[in-house]
Amino acid sequence: MRHLRNLVDVGREGLCVLLDAADRFRDRRGDPDIERPLAGKSVALVFEKASTRTRVSLEIAVAELGGHPLVMTSSGSQLARGEPLADTARVLSRMVHAITFRTAGHDRLLELIAHSTVPVLNALTDSSHPMQLLADLQTVRSKFGRLDGLNYAWIGDGNNMANSWIEAAGLLRLRLVLACPKGYDPDQAMIEAAVEQGASIELVRDPIEAARGADVISTDVFASMGKEQEQAQRLEAFRGMCVTQQVAALAAPTHVVMHCLPAHRGEEIEDAVIEGPNSVVWDQAEARLHTAKAALVWAFGHDG
Ligand code: CP
Ligand code: NVA
Repeated sequence: MRHLRNLVDVGREGLCVLLDAADRFRDRRGDPDIERPLAGKSVALVFEKASTRTRVSLEIAVAELGGHPLVMTSSGSQLARGEPLADTARVLSRMVHAITFRTAGHDRLLELIAHSTVPVLNALTDSSHPMQLLADLQTVRSKFGRLDGLNYAWIGDGNNMANSWIEAAGLLRLRLVLACPKGYDPDQAMIEAAVEQGASIELVRDPIEAARGADVISTDVFASMGKEQEQAQRLEAFRGMCVTQQVAALAAPTHVVMHCLPAHRGEEIEDAVIEGPNSVVWDQAEARLHTAKAALVWAFGHDG
């Protein structure tokens, strides 16, 4: 049994094994002879925040792996009435075989894990989004045939996605330049840990510096879930941080543009960029399904 708190839980070797498994799930989708490693198992998908991709990918992944997915939202359960997470964890552990959890505070994820006797997977917290990064890495690897030796750029908020890119950079010793406005930096401890592992991480203020020569440009909304009330102030702080055609034109000719979605066109990314020939956002979204399967299988202790 394994918990997926963050990408580091998977480890460098594990990440490669997991991405290979995700490729197999992609290539063999629909094959009637594909194994069903979750047969007889139920997985609770617990959401304290909204979701489209994570919910759909996990629900379909569990079903296609032969298991039973059970979606629980806070408003439709006793969580909204304040039932302690520790109690929820113990009750779910008596009935299901794994739990995925989307919540605000990373400490809530850790609390659920502390009281669970079944594997728990992070389906997004305010500090990281490892399941999205698995999909992003699968997408990059299938476009370029490799993950190393590329220049990665992050433009925008130093949020959960930026933090998970930093973790990925650490695990895979990648070159990553992040352009974030002052006051919206990613997690400093994660940067230090990634550099310690051999990543090259640079934090800059100018998106042009990050985009120049990049093979992969990633961005995300300026105001993440829970920060909506800061929207006006953030629009001001993030002025000039949009991934425009002019910014993307500085990247390598074969670059790809990524966004975990949902996007706010015209804010962090221009419509012409997200709809343009270098955008891989739909492949990235589809990869959520294949990598969700691989992550579930990993959590159950199989290598896929
Ligand atoms: N990218 C992502 O996690 O999307 P959802 O919020 O729709 O799940
Ligand atoms: N940073 C975004 C990601 C959504 C998938 C958020 O937390 O809202």
